[in-house]
Amino acid sequence: MTTEAERIQALEEAEYNLFKIPSRLVMIDLLTDSGTGAMSNEQWAAIMRGDESYAGSPSFERLEATVKDLFGFQHVIPTHQGRAAERILFSTMVKAGQVVPNNTHFDTTRGNIEFLGAEAVDLVIPEGLDPQNRHPFKGNMDVNKLEELIETRGPEKIPLCLQTITNNSGGGQPVSMENIRSVRKVLDRFGIPLYLDACRFAENAYFIKTREMGYEDKSVKTIVRELMSLADGCTVSAKKDGLVNIGGLLCTNDPVLAQKEKDLLILTEGYPTYGGLAGRDLEAMAVGFEEVLNEDYLKYRLAEVRYLGEHLQQIGFHTIQPPGGHAVYIDARTTLDHIPQKQYPGHALAVEFYKSGGVRTCEIGSVMFGRWDPETKQEIPSSMELLRMALPRRTHTQSHIDYVLEVAKEVLERKKKIRGLKITHHPPFLRHFTAGFKPL
Ligand code: F0G
Repeated sequence: MTTEAERIQALEEAEYNLFKIPSRLVMIDLLTDSGTGAMSNEQWAAIMRGDESYAGSPSFERLEATVKDLFGFQHVIPTHQGRAAERILFSTMVKAGQVVPNNTHFDTTRGNIEFLGAEAVDLVIPEGLDPQNRHPFKGNMDVNKLEELIETRGPEKIPLCLQTITNNSGGGQPVSMENIRSVRKVLDRFGIPLYLDACRFAENAYFIKTREMGYEDKSVKTIVRELMSLADGCTVSAKKDGLVNIGGLLCTNDPVLAQKEKDLLILTEGYPTYGGLAGRDLEAMAVGFEEVLNEDYLKYRLAEVRYLGEHLQQIGFHTIQPPGGHAVYIDARTTLDHIPQKQYPGHALAVEFYKSGGVRTCEIGSVMFGRWDPETKQEIPSSMELLRMALPRRTHTQSHIDYVLEVAKEVLERKKKIRGLKITHHPPFLRHFTAGFKPL
């Protein structure tokens, strides 16, 4: 527990950047659902079995067998987390000047693509950008726009296409099987490979089970297998649906590419049978990928997020509808309609949640995705200004969530007093992690 005065001091010391607040000064931490969940007794038991051989560990064999059985890809490369898989995948496939489409790139995929001098393009369907639209699959890609992009830029300029399941930056919204199939069809015409950014594959599969015709009687595992069968490979941050605190995967069916990826992996991550992780981490991941398929767990998981989302909406917040799989996203632009986009309403709201009740959240808006336009010398704001409340897996009880809702009520009462911020300094990419701010 902290007092408001202590939190104000912490904010000042952190230059109003919530990433720089020590977590001991946070009451409920909804900054991310990544690596922050609780591991099960079975996972901890598996950790004790970890075999720390440098090469060819049986712990790797267990992970590889589990992932092959679940995803069906021929080559399974462990990495320390999702972005390491992304860096290796893009370094082997993408060249400067090329274009990589996605429904919506997450900050690290965009960052890794731009770092290589390529362009990251978001092609989510228009419903995905309308916070109140209740389309069941708001993470879908606009297939016509994809076709148009390929035709105008030329297929040789597009080394691969991604689909993020669920669409994190667009509200944690799922992608339908039908959409992945249509995207695949278009890509096949041009010979472009499809990769899934599959951090939240199980949550996406459960949405398919409950929302897409023809899947209600299929198991989540069968749905996951079908999803993956439509792709040439995937990157996974196992810190989400792998239910572990650290870990990731890069999978592919292409043997030549897999070899190149492993060579690069050795350079920076480690030997291909441990990929920058300890043997015990591989064991915990293998168990996590099985546990996450438990449909009672998934049902509870989505209900927990829905509970928070629906109550926030009842209190008077505008949230992205319907609630996503791992997080609730408040539409800060309409909630704080007195703060212009250039003054970062999403971030202003995040600061207020921390100040009011020690609840740490994350802006997904122009702080994260605003871009400098060198021609107009102006910042181009993000398409949405969101505040994300991400729920760590298997961590909170309803009373924790109810506390967040009490804080939310207070924030809303103070709403007119909330002011925007300006950025005082920031690095050239992924600026939200380390930028400094000043309240206006
Ligand atoms: N792709 C998506 C869709 C993600 O949400 C993340 C991470 C990554 C890739 C990168 O994975 O962190 O293991 O390197 N998202 C976290 C979040 C950090 O808070 O949403 P990583």
